[in-house]
Amino acid sequence: MKIQIVYCHPSQKSYTHEILEQLKSSLIKENLKFEVSDLYMMNFQTDMSKEEYDREGFVNSYLPIPNDEKEEHRKIEQSDCLIFVYPVWWSDCPAKLKGWFDRVYSVGYAYGYDESRTNIQKMKTILYGIALCTTGHPNEFLDEIGIAESMRNVMIDDRLGQRFDKKEMIILGGTSDRKKVENEHFVIVKDIAKRIKKYCALRV
Ligand SMILES: Cc1cc2nc3c(=O)[nH]c(=O)nc-3n(C[C@H](O)[C@H](O)[C@H](O)COP(=O)(O)O)c2cc1C
Repeated sequence: MKIQIVYCHPSQKSYTHEILEQLKSSLIKENLKFEVSDLYMMNFQTDMSKEEYDREGFVNSYLPIPNDEKEEHRKIEQSDCLIFVYPVWWSDCPAKLKGWFDRVYSVGYAYGYDESRTNIQKMKTILYGIALCTTGHPNEFLDEIGIAESMRNVMIDDRLGQRFDKKEMIILGGTSDRKKVENEHFVIVKDIAKRIKKYCALRV
């Protein structure tokens, strides 16, 4: 049973980094194995090149997949659970994480699988997927203006989509007043490891 955390924030002094640390401790406490892909630390390339676009945009799945994408595929294939940890910027994930989806979700792998092409393996169905994000606005406000729903639609229904068995979006809102919300957030984060363990233990 293995968990892959895809983490996206440029600063180790951020609140989102603190959430990552809380999450890691809760996973350790539950004896769950995990690995972190820190996209900024890895300097992960998230702009799609013209060559990549020629492959993706025209469904030329016979064209080669870059090695850094293949490495992310390898990590995905070894995982039972993926957790995306990021701050919300302009009502979505940061561009770097968006670029991870643009590139890593390559055609023939994450979508448009063609059985006749044996050189590409179809992405496995991951047991549990979680989008764990922090937002400056409180949850109630994001619910009221429809942004919480749109973030859920994009992240859970589209990006995680049918590739995941169980899916969850956790919005840790109100970080503009961190002192007010952090205890509540830490309790929510602490509970994640227990839920993953309970769900995956019966299925792995
Ligand atoms: C470029 C940028 C855009 C942001 N856009 C939003 C937004 O659309 N909605 C929101 O609630 N908070 C927004 N925020 C606030 C962040 O979500 C908040 O800073 C984060 O949740 C927690 O802070 P951290 O950067 O210390 O981890 C934005 C912050 C930045 C830097």
